[in-house]
Amino acid sequence: MRLKLGICIVSIVFLTLPAFSRKISKSFFFPSVQASEKKGIPGKWKHWRDFVNEYFRYPLPPMGEAPKSYKGAERSLSPERCGSCHPEQYEQWRTTLHARAMSPGVYGQLVDMWKTNPGGAQSCNECHAPLAEQQKRAKQSAGPPANWRKNPVHDPELEMSGLACASCHVRDWRVHGPRKKETPEGVDDTTGNGPHGGVERTLFFSRSEFCMSCHQHTFPGPNGKSIQNTYNEWKNSLWGEEGVACQSCHMPDRAHLWRGIHDKDMTQSAVQIDVSLGAEARGEIVTAEIKLTNSGAGHYFPTYITPSVDVISELEDKNGRRIPGSRQINVIERKLSSDFSREIHDTRIPPQKSITFRYRRGRREDAARLRVRVHVRPDAFYHNFFIEFLKNPAISSLARKFITQARDIAASSGFDIYDEKFELKN
Ligand code: HEC
Ligand code: HEC
Ligand code: HEC
Ligand code: HEC
Ligand code: HEC
Repeated sequence: MRLKLGICIVSIVFLTLPAFSRKISKSFFFPSVQASEKKGIPGKWKHWRDFVNEYFRYPLPPMGEAPKSYKGAERSLSPERCGSCHPEQYEQWRTTLHARAMSPGVYGQLVDMWKTNPGGAQSCNECHAPLAEQQKRAKQSAGPPANWRKNPVHDPELEMSGLACASCHVRDWRVHGPRKKETPEGVDDTTGNGPHGGVERTLFFSRSEFCMSCHQHTFPGPNGKSIQNTYNEWKNSLWGEEGVACQSCHMPDRAHLWRGIHDKDMTQSAVQIDVSLGAEARGEIVTAEIKLTNSGAGHYFPTYITPSVDVISELEDKNGRRIPGSRQINVIERKLSSDFSREIHDTRIPPQKSITFRYRRGRREDAARLRVRVHVRPDAFYHNFFIEFLKNPAISSLARKFITQARDIAASSGFDIYDEKFELKN
């Protein structure tokens, strides 16, 4: 049970409390949009809540046969085929974690789960591969696993594409997208003909609510904070107040890049780091203040319980050798108990806020400088989780192969965003 609970931070409550999670309505957690917003919104949806509920309803129905008017590449849901006409978005998308959402770490768990717990597997795919055509099995009737059969519309290649273009853009073969940048406010620029029968356009593609169904839990978590709480963190921040959407930072100029904590430049842009040596650092002691400010993330730094950020301070001699016993490590992370029921600590930095760590150590004669390093481990939680997972003798050899690969990827995804040395005064 423990392994199953730990499978993914975002899904555990789905798996353990499905009835509970469905009972709580979205409106309970999300404040209502201003009344003035409702008027004059062009397109099919007038309120973001209707858009989110309808557009990301799950499971998505199969698309069926493409309309007769669709020709050639238009008849395909595969990202490569969309890319033949939209090369820019395709070239960007394929470098992202959205394209790798059916990664070895996910697939390695799903191979066995489709056999033993198909409902669980499908619930993972709600975020990792939501199209009906990506599901290995389909539910025939309500009830136990016996009522699941091979999915007649399963497309194995599409399954491995993870979060494909069509997951975000296509429903019932109708292509949906944002409003054209040049369309004047209030004018509906939805079209019903042209390539792929035109485009259903709505401004909700450009709003934070678009990202919500996969990046925000609608049910509570330990210590009053959902386990996945990114939208609420954003909404309650200056960024949310000012309406600076997720897309402004994660899709600048509509680029399909979605860089996050796995990317060094993006992570560096999130925090400002100031180190000041204490004035009393003469004689026998060294003191310093290391201040990190979340100036560039639109939510907590970091937003999930899966990464850890280590602030490592230590003394060196003049040849760069570490002085034993001088190392201090402060960790920035949200840590939960292994069953996810309790919060152990939360040292993450809220948007626009700072955290200050104080360093104080005895000074050995040969200490020449203080070195401060900030090391990011984007997959800290998953690395441990994969190690534990592999201890289970019951997993299939295919699962073992993929999870071993995932463990090695997670072990090597760390990087430094800061590494500076400060000369001690004599
Ligand atoms: C045969 C070429 C072709 C294929 C294949 C194709 N598209 Fe398009 N698509 C276009 C063209 C041309 C437009 C511009 C239409 C317009 O301005 O109304 C467009 C418009 C769009 C838009 C609206 C944004 C914009 O640039 O105006 C989106 C979103 C979109 N396509 C997504 C997709 C997705 C997703 C797929 C794959 C499932 C796909 N397209 C497959 C040619 C294609
Ligand atoms: C509500 C959306 C959602 C659901 C449901 C969900 N995930 Fe995830 N998953 C995410 C997001 C977002 C991330 C990336 C953030 C992170 O590291 O946690 C992620 C990350 C992961 C990762 C680590 C990254 C990787 O690709 O190796 C694994 C493994 C994973 N999920 C497995 C699962 C499994 C198995 C399930 C079902 C039991 C599941 N997820 C259900 C959204 C979801
Ligand atoms: C995670 C969801 C998601 C995925 C996956 C995705 N898109 Fe998009 N796409 C969006 C959003 C959101 C916007 C609008 C961004 C904005 O308005 O700031 C958009 C905008 C677009 C546009 C319009 C760009 C413009 O300049 O007006 C095109 C074309 C497009 N996407 C095609 C694709 C193609 C092709 C793929 C796959 C290779 C793809 N998208 C994958 C969410 C997605
Ligand atoms: C259909 C579900 C879905 C939607 C919609 C979606 N995402 Fe994601 N997103 C995921 C999953 C799943 C992952 C993790 C994939 C993995 O690592 O296996 C992810 C990963 C990411 C990451 C990378 C995180 C990292 O650890 O580096 C960023 C950034 C991100 N998403 C931003 C967005 C933004 C912004 C939007 C809205 C425009 C959005 N996503 C919409 C499911 C979704
Ligand atoms: C002001 C810019 C900004 C805005 C707005 C913003 N982000 Fe981020 N986001 C970042 C930066 C910078 C990072 C990398 C540092 C970090 O992980 O906090 C990041 C990281 C992430 C990650 C990586 C996982 C993690 O643990 O941090 C996800 C997922 C994500 N953002 C999703 C979102 C979503 C969803 C929204 C909207 C509700 C959003 N972001 C709004 C700047 C922004």
